[in-house]
Amino acid sequence: MKQTDWEVLRITATDAMKRAYAPYSKFPVGAAALVDDGRIISGCNVENASYGLTLCAECGLISSLVASGGGKLIAFSCVDISGNYLMPCGRCRQLLHEHGGASLQIMTDTGIKPLSELLPWAFGPEEIERRLD
Ligand code: THU
Repeated sequence: MKQTDWEVLRITATDAMKRAYAPYSKFPVGAAALVDDGRIISGCNVENASYGLTLCAECGLISSLVASGGGKLIAFSCVDISGNYLMPCGRCRQLLHEHGGASLQIMTDTGIKPLSELLPWAFGPEEIERRLD
């Protein structure tokens, strides 16, 4: 498995952030992740005049993951307009859990944390599989 180059993730997330569509909040966000096959994927937030329809940067990133061949997320980072690391919102933690699992590494202001720390006791695909057996 490829070693995570966190600087590449930060630069890729920053590039994506510059393409964000955030005319309402004026809070552009960019996200980038390393996939288990070595791919780097990214996403940016896309807002809407109907505010509640806003797509977080992580939504675009997950769509890009699936559309470019799928795989498991290994490492993730998300930045704001100043290049500061952002914590993913609650909904996006769940999205990341589906495709990265509890061990997904998340870059934060206080270092790298596993997703299990951000989303303890997560509900995931294995819960459904267990109950369907
Ligand atoms: N946002 C993200 O893109 N990801 C997050 O995890 C937190 C919030 C976006 C949504 C909205 O366009 C803007 O940040 C302000 O909330």
